[in-house]
Amino acid sequence: MNIVLIGMMGSGKSSVGKALARKLKWDFFDIDQLIETEQKMTVAQIFERKGQEEFRKLETEAIRKTAQFDRCVISTGGGAILKDDNWKAFAKNGWVVWLKSKPEVLLERVKKSKPGTRPLLKNNLSLDQIQKIAEERAVGYQKANQIIENDAVTLEQIVNQIAQQLKAKGALT
Ligand code: S3P
Repeated sequence: MNIVLIGMMGSGKSSVGKALARKLKWDFFDIDQLIETEQKMTVAQIFERKGQEEFRKLETEAIRKTAQFDRCVISTGGGAILKDDNWKAFAKNGWVVWLKSKPEVLLERVKKSKPGTRPLLKNNLSLDQIQKIAEERAVGYQKANQIIENDAVTLEQIVNQIAQQLKAKGALT
């Protein structure tokens, strides 16, 4: 089984993913990083040079590949919930966890991160834009197996909540 983290940009998927993988002694993969390594371009460059549609194809391919792994924590990009093919890959062996945050919190986190890395917010880094994207995607994120509200909890608490759930499922032996 793999743990698949989903959620909006700035929801903490990479930080939580790394900490969780460390705790479980599982491998960690970040879908955006896998694409960047393979394409030898940043996500922003792929959006610019090839367009969003092509990025989504690369994303689906990377998700499909990671579904063949086992005992991995996989951090996805915020739009990974948009395609049925991605859900098919998650369903193979994934425990999908949505890191749910309020738009206000997402905005602050994105503002603190490296500028220019998020093409969907490049021309409009605002609460309105984040709210709009979050609303469009809410139905997709809600398909997760586990939902964690991560606005007022520590990284350690989130990691423990996920680990406890896996233990209860008998996935941690
Ligand atoms: C995207 C989120 C980004 C990255 C790309 C598209 C999205 O990842 O995959 O810019 O559609 O929400 P993060 O969620 O890690 O920022």
